[in-house]
Amino acid sequence: MVGGVTDRGTARMSPRPVIIDCDPGQDDAVALVMALARPDAIEVLAVTAVGGNVPLRLTERNARRVVELCGRPDLPVHAGCAAPLIVPLETAEYVHGETGLDGSGLPDPERPLTSGHAVDAMIDLIEARPEGAVTLVATGPLTNVALAFAKAPAVMRRLERIVLMGGALELGNVTPAAEFNVYVDPHAARMVFQGGVPITMFGLDVTHKVLVTDARLRRVREAGTGAAAAIHGMMEFAARYDRERYSAEGGPLHDPCTIAWLLQPDLFRGRECRVEIETDSPLTRGMTVVDWLGRAPEKNAAVMRDADADGFFDLLDDCLKRLG
Ligand code: BDR
Ligand code: CA
Repeated sequence: MVGGVTDRGTARMSPRPVIIDCDPGQDDAVALVMALARPDAIEVLAVTAVGGNVPLRLTERNARRVVELCGRPDLPVHAGCAAPLIVPLETAEYVHGETGLDGSGLPDPERPLTSGHAVDAMIDLIEARPEGAVTLVATGPLTNVALAFAKAPAVMRRLERIVLMGGALELGNVTPAAEFNVYVDPHAARMVFQGGVPITMFGLDVTHKVLVTDARLRRVREAGTGAAAAIHGMMEFAARYDRERYSAEGGPLHDPCTIAWLLQPDLFRGRECRVEIETDSPLTRGMTVVDWLGRAPEKNAAVMRDADADGFFDLLDDCLKRLG
């Protein structure tokens, strides 16, 4: 297997400007915490919320709870789309609990939502920076991102890259063929994969190699900080469902792989591929059809497939300790 992506070996002089579009969700929350723990490497410009794991009124609230946990009440949090482009929203309380952040013990947010729709905020932030400056991380259904492509395609093509959690080469988690984020809004996913912006895709193949074992869970708690206690509670909650379902030594940690890759790309291995999205078939709706063997000359995504899980948890430990 060849190395993942070749364009990020050089050290950056200043933090990478990033927008995080998410549907928190315990694992989205871990991704946010990791990003906000590393202002030396990542400048989070805004958090935008989308309906997904739970309805939008909860995902935007959860995003505010997490940024406050991280001591960043100043950070803009915008609400975006409540429902997918075409199909009705299907949520996942069976994984994440009724609030989406069950297990966190986090209080209600104090600060209000930032005014302005997530899609407009995304477009304005990208437009305000030089071409190729902003990276978009997407860890929920791709509805907001697709709508931004529909509204301002030329602005979206100024993105450096989209780093997303979604899809699977092999086994789906909602149906045998499809992973949750792509299944929930397959039409949006197709627009994003055809949008002309380089993508780094973290599908289930790689996230199921980053397992929350008992020993790793203990280590999170032992980091001993407020953020660590909340993350421990959330991971423990999510692990209940995952262990029952997958009977693995621990549940997968999906969304934080995106941020870990920005911080330490050598933790992951993958390959440039062509990825197309199935939208029509009732049997395989939301399937990411990955041309792993390279038949198609035009690639649109670096598809990650392998991870250094111990290295990932070292990085998480470091982030939790930095956050204090
Ligand atoms: C994805 O779906 C959600 O349950 C998680 O937050 C993650 O983004 C995994 O399929
Ligand atoms: Ca998510």
